[in-house]
This record gives sequence, C-alpha cells and structure tokens, in this order.
Amino acid sequence: MEYEDFMTGHTFRSRPLDLAVDTIGEQDLERVIAWLREYPRLTMANETRRFEEAWAKWLGTKYAVFCNSGSSADLLMYAALDSSGRAGNRKVVVPATGWVTTVAPSMQLGFEPTMCETDAMTFGMDAASLEAILEKEHPDTVILVHELGVPNNMGPILSLREKYGFNLLEDCCASHGARHQGQMVGTFGLMSAFSFYYGHHMSTIEGGMVCTDDEEMYYHLLMLRSHGWCKDLPKEEYARLVAKHGVDDFHSPFTFVIPGYNLRSTDLSAYIGMIQLEHLDGIIAKRVANHLMYQEIIGDKMRYAKCMPGDVISSISFCAIAESTEQRKHIVSVLNDNEIDTRLFTAANLGQHPFWKVRYGAFEGPVATTLYDCGFFLPNNQALDRGDIEHICDVVLKAI
Ligand SMILES: Cc1ncc(COP(=O)(O)O)c(C=O)c1O
Repeated sequence: MEYEDFMTGHTFRSRPLDLAVDTIGEQDLERVIAWLREYPRLTMANETRRFEEAWAKWLGTKYAVFCNSGSSADLLMYAALDSSGRAGNRKVVVPATGWVTTVAPSMQLGFEPTMCETDAMTFGMDAASLEAILEKEHPDTVILVHELGVPNNMGPILSLREKYGFNLLEDCCASHGARHQGQMVGTFGLMSAFSFYYGHHMSTIEGGMVCTDDEEMYYHLLMLRSHGWCKDLPKEEYARLVAKHGVDDFHSPFTFVIPGYNLRSTDLSAYIGMIQLEHLDGIIAKRVANHLMYQEIIGDKMRYAKCMPGDVISSISFCAIAESTEQRKHIVSVLNDNEIDTRLFTAANLGQHPFWKVRYGAFEGPVATTLYDCGFFLPNNQALDRGDIEHICDVVLKAI
C-alpha cells in the first residue's frame, strides 16, 4: 500500500515486512473509545498516577514519572541532576552509539560531554574506553544506551562506578524487558529513561518514562515536568517547600520553585499505557524469541550485536553489519526489491552527525564508525513469525 505523508509530501510504502508495527490494536482502540464515552478528564491526573505506579511495579523501581517522549525522559534525567545540584563537575560521558537525544540535552544544558567508543560485542559502551576517559577527565556522570534491546555488559561498568564514583544514567528507550544476569535494564542506574513511541515494545502514541529509586531525583523530576511548580509533589514535600519559601495558601499552588518545563503527557496516553502494559510481557517474549531465531539462522555468517551469556536481548530491530559499505548498499537494494524494510542502524556513530561534529569535531572510534559505514536493521517486531524470519535471513544470506 502506498500513501503520501501529509507533512513532507514524501511517498511511503507500507510493506508486509516493516521494521515497526503498531502495538495499539483495534480492540485496544475500542476500549479507549468506550472510556472516552465516559467523558473522563484528559489532562494529566489520576490515570497518569495509576500508569506510573503500574510501570514502576513492572520495572521494579520505587518511582516512575510519565512524560511526553523518550527524548523528554532523557532531558529530564540531565535536568534533575542539574537542578538538584548533583551534576558535580558537569562532565558527562556519552555513548557514540545511541540516539541524538541521549546526548543533545548535555549540550543544551551546558554539560561538558566526552564521547565514548562502542563495545564491539553489545554495541553498548566500551568499558576500556570508558575507563580511559574516567582516568583522564574524572566526569561525575555517565549515560549509556542499551542499544536496541541488547543489554550492556554491566559487570565492568558497575565495577568502574565502584572505583571512580559517578552518576549512572541508563537510556532504555528501545530496550524494555532486556535483562543483564536476570536484572531488568533500567534498574542499574540512578535514573533510567524509556520511550513509548510507535514501533517500540509498547506505545502511548508518544510518551516516555523516567524511573528512579532516589527520592530527591523523583521530586525534581516531578517539578521539572510541570513548569517547576511544587504542587505535583507528595503532600509532605509540598508542605515542606511551601514553608521553606514562606509562601501562603493562595500563592502556593502556583509557586515556581525551580526553572522547569512542560513535558507532561496526558491521561489519555496514560489510559492507553495501562492497556499496553497488559500486552507488554507477551510482546517482549515474541521479540526475544524472534531475536534468537535470527541468531540461530544467521549463525556466524554475518556480524551482529550479541549479549553476555545469561543476558536477555529484547530487541526492537536486529542490528546486522555488512562487510563493507559496498556490500551494505547491495544488501539494502536486495531488501528493497524483496519489500523488506531496512534503515541505517539508528545514528550508529553520533560523532559523525553534524549536531556533534560541527561543535566538537568528528568522533572516529573504529567500532562506532563501522556501524555507521556498514550497519543496517532487519525487522523484529511482534507480528513476525518463524516463516518471516527464515525468509528475511534467506534473502540477506543469498545477497551476501
Ligand atoms: C536510545 C534512544 N533514546 C531516545 C529515543 C527517543 O525516544 P522518543 O522517540 O520517544 O523521543 C530513542 C528513540 O527511539 C532511542 O532509541
């Protein structure tokens, strides 16, 4: 099916083997319609709180703060460090492989970012390169990405945190349900970010969540999300701040304690999120199984991201690496001929993109650069079955 994008005018084809398919099904929409017929409140209120509690329980953190995108969740993590005074020397290590908004808030908020090379196995953060930066720069913050559902090898990274001491932030925007040695990603760091955009493990249309066990961070996240006011805080903390600043009852609901944003989502999205949570474990199980099928069929005939033994990959796409840019070009054209969706391996090497290289110069890490030059996606989503994956692998393996 072909359709024209109303904003750009580009023509898109909806193919049988798309990278992403919607997780919001017809029956889910029926439930949303029935709920809307009750004329509920739509702006952020009780549904949001319900969704946050359910998400925190699912993940295993004390607190969760729902916002309007994964990018906003990333921004909120940096902003909470900043406004709480816990950003330390404001130096931050950022990954070469990730998404632009993993890194962009550090630049917008005046942190001093240093880019770190990508690990050749997980495509997460390379621990040896990280240690070299820690040794030289002594940064107080490190943000890593569990790249497209492949958990970082957390062992060495956590040892480095013990040794050097830094705030660890986890960008889990595309890795819901991935596990390192049984522990869910998003529970290792001081804070973690998730995305609920279309095509991810679950969707709230747009949406994101910041998760933490740290009470102080939680309070800052709540204030930063809503203009910097304190009325979204739990009662006791609200009362404490109102008393501290000597504000009377009339002024207190609209007293702005810190410079904030409006990064809220809505109760409509939260209601959809509650329905999506019912499907989440099933969708993750499907993605995990599909990923294992890819690994089993492709074997050692191509390079792709792998995890540590005992870890679980909950992938959003299967990330493969061609032997050369020329070979990738050929594979991409064969995939196109066979109506199998593909694209650049997210940003692959963020340090090759203008937003970074114009300011800091290109990042030349060999692993990240190989991903930029030779990496590509193969579809993994909950709609694919063994036959589809055998077909995709057959097309790719014949092409190489
Ligand atoms: C690692 C990572 N971080 C952040 C984002 C941004 O999430 P959103 O699209 O919800 O803003 C994405 C999006 O896929 C991502 O993969």
